[in-house]
Amino acid sequence: MIEARDIVKSFGPHRVLDRVSLTLGQGEVVAVIGPSGSGKSTFLRCLNHLETIDEGSVEVEGETLARAVAGGRSQYAGDADVRRICRKMGMVFQSFNLFPHMTVLQNVVEAPITVKGMARSEIVPKAEELLRKVGLLNKRDNYPGRLSGGQKQRVAIARALAMEPDIMLFDEPTSALDPELTGEVLRTMKQLADERMTMLVVTHEMGFAREVAHRVIFMDEGRIIEESPSADFFRAPQQARSREFLAHML
Ligand SMILES: Nc1ncnc2c1ncn2[C@@H]1O[C@H](COP(=O)(O)OP(=O)(O)O)[C@@H](O)[C@H]1O
Ligand SMILES: [Mg+2]
Repeated sequence: MIEARDIVKSFGPHRVLDRVSLTLGQGEVVAVIGPSGSGKSTFLRCLNHLETIDEGSVEVEGETLARAVAGGRSQYAGDADVRRICRKMGMVFQSFNLFPHMTVLQNVVEAPITVKGMARSEIVPKAEELLRKVGLLNKRDNYPGRLSGGQKQRVAIARALAMEPDIMLFDEPTSALDPELTGEVLRTMKQLADERMTMLVVTHEMGFAREVAHRVIFMDEGRIIEESPSADFFRAPQQARSREFLAHML
């Protein structure tokens, strides 16, 4: 579903991603873990063009978002293609990013109507179904300000799903939540994984990485240090840095 090769990304003189590659198969759930500042968010943001890569290539479902040209530099597809390809990926952020002046339902139907041109009559029942799925249909007419953090994040997930992405990218979806609210969000994500959604999840939740993810990618200082099936990774991390990180997290 995603094939990223040798992504290099710098901010000024600082090389934040140093030849990071990823293959993400259909229905696969991959957890990206690693210390703060290791480039996890930047990596996710490079995959859906929230950041522009300097070098390397990204393909999504066989379509080229950016390709490496002579000298290693990356060249992006045309704007219309970039937008279309990026729409295959839904993203959920740590900070929810709901529109505060819109109700829960309006938040969910907004992008399908304005970006995809869907009719209200078509998207509203779909949005209600998604809200039911994340357990929030009874909040459809509430404003985000009235919701708990866990509820807001579940709305954000429903909103991303309303665009019918083939791949979901999560950037620390539970990090802004009180501990007692992380469970409801992780359960929603597990449910998605059980339905065979393809997911790339940056997370500090080692339980989720171990139990739900098929594979773990451990990043440090802009590089992938270790990549293994999650059972192997948690049983016997191979690299000193992964062992140290795990010892600290568990
Ligand atoms: N827009 C930006 N401009 C400059 N530096 C950035 C920017 N975004 C991230 N960085 C830097 O890139 C490095 C990796 O950041 P990030 O991808 O957010 O790491 P992580 O998500 O693993 O905590 C950090 O040193 C961070 O300060
Ligand atoms: Mg981050």
